[in-house]
Amino acid sequence: MIKEQIQQKIQEIFGLDFVPEICSTNFEGADFAVSPKLIFEIVKKAGTSAEKVKEKIIESATQDLGCVASVKNGFVNISIRDISQEVRIFLETDNYLEKKQNHDKTIVIDYSAPNIAKRFSIGNLRSTIIGAAVANSYKALGYKVEGINHLGDWGTQFGKLVVAIEKWGDKKEIEKNPLEQLSNLYIRFHREAQSNPALVDEARLAFKKLESGDERTRVIWRKCINWSMKEFDHYYDELGIHIENIIGESFYDDKTVQVIRELDQKGLLKESEGAKIVEFDHLPPAVIQKKDEATLYITRDLASIKYRIEKFKPTKMIYHVGLEQQLHFTQLFEIVRMLGWAKNVELVYAGHGLVKLPSGKMSAREGNVVLLEELIREAKERVRDIFKGGGADKIDEDKVKAVAIGAIKYTDLKQNRKTNIVFDWANALDLNGNSGPYLQYAYARISSVISKSGLKIGDLIAESNEMKIDKDQVKDLIFFQDVVNEMAENEMPNLICNFAYKIASKANSYYERVRVLNEDKDELIKNIMPLFVWEKLLRLSFEIIGLEPLKEV
Ligand code: ARG
Repeated sequence: MIKEQIQQKIQEIFGLDFVPEICSTNFEGADFAVSPKLIFEIVKKAGTSAEKVKEKIIESATQDLGCVASVKNGFVNISIRDISQEVRIFLETDNYLEKKQNHDKTIVIDYSAPNIAKRFSIGNLRSTIIGAAVANSYKALGYKVEGINHLGDWGTQFGKLVVAIEKWGDKKEIEKNPLEQLSNLYIRFHREAQSNPALVDEARLAFKKLESGDERTRVIWRKCINWSMKEFDHYYDELGIHIENIIGESFYDDKTVQVIRELDQKGLLKESEGAKIVEFDHLPPAVIQKKDEATLYITRDLASIKYRIEKFKPTKMIYHVGLEQQLHFTQLFEIVRMLGWAKNVELVYAGHGLVKLPSGKMSAREGNVVLLEELIREAKERVRDIFKGGGADKIDEDKVKAVAIGAIKYTDLKQNRKTNIVFDWANALDLNGNSGPYLQYAYARISSVISKSGLKIGDLIAESNEMKIDKDQVKDLIFFQDVVNEMAENEMPNLICNFAYKIASKANSYYERVRVLNEDKDELIKNIMPLFVWEKLLRLSFEIIGLEPLKEV
């Protein structure tokens, strides 16, 4: 790729021991810019003047690489004369975004993580959708990705659940509708415990039994997991999302002992009213072990970090969890720092905001929860109506699903993850606006024109060297790698959404100006070239976003 060639040349000329990162730009008609900051770094390394550095870069860019280059406001602007080589490489390279140097790097991504025996709400959905997109971006760049579903399958609430199931549960009913039944039982426990406090002691005892491995209690608890997983798996299937590792909190229960010991040995534990806590300078203390010796969410998270570092040897660990857990993750990472565990691992908390429906319903923990099931059902109904309104006589259910799920995912991903979002149907399904269906339509239209032309990618590649390609139409190509890099590095899927939207809009307005399907072969090839580029750019972006590229809609 030309950007890499330029970087390599600069590195060579000045004998740099780092890759000089030039930026892609649209400024002043340039394609790339060498920033004053980078020039300054080169000056430091190469021991020459800034003037000499700029001069040499210009010389090499123009003479060795056939670009146009000049100095503007302290930057060296570089633009390529002919984009055909870029286009050819792009069209003929299978894993265009993949970088060899990423192959031996592992990224651990903690996402989705619903709680066993609780309904899967649209709150869980954000973590699932954003986490999957970020995982896809790292995969596309060639990293090894270990997604982890840190299921909420442990904690004192399971004592309550076991008691409730034993007292009031009907196995057949639960099996029919697990999450609904189990959350009802849980709610009933709380209701009855108000007038019968002895239930709370029973639950405490049940959890103790569970912790000490009591067979009967374990069997009920296991069943809760299996029942819940069956329903969760159905959602993952619908969403087309696969998480590599399912390792719930319970897995770490026996590993917390060692964590507590290590904290103690390093002098980090304090006693407070019988509980064990860690204190910080600027944060409220974190309880690590309760008075009754039960461990907590944070204790298990600590154990999981240790386990993940040992097992996966990651360079980065990312957590996609709602921003309401900001304090938890700040404390968690601070303890890890105190313990000195993560010296070579970057820990990132990529929190996200809440999702609300316009009606005011929220992804709250209790009650008033919008269920994923309802959301998917409604999305499908609305898409079916759109298809019927468009005159379709036979409704293809696979397509309905692809468009409905695409709409749900995209409407979330296109927004900055840190903001609270409002889920709005008109917006999610807007066929003329920035939506999943709009992008899928744009893609299908490109595919259909390409297929009508009868041309194959090979024909275009063969011609691409000879032809003058309209750089303005396909220039986005040179930003693509940067966009995906930036998205991955900052866990920001909205960047790739913006990119794809821009391509789709460009394609849609192109047909208004250009009659692509021309009888003249040369004209046809010239006009259709951008479509091949856009088709592939969109397809690769869809893979990251998790949109299905439909050939026709
Ligand atoms: N199950 C938790 C919840 O629903 C999220 C877990 C996130 N991951 C983690 N390692 N803490 O709140």
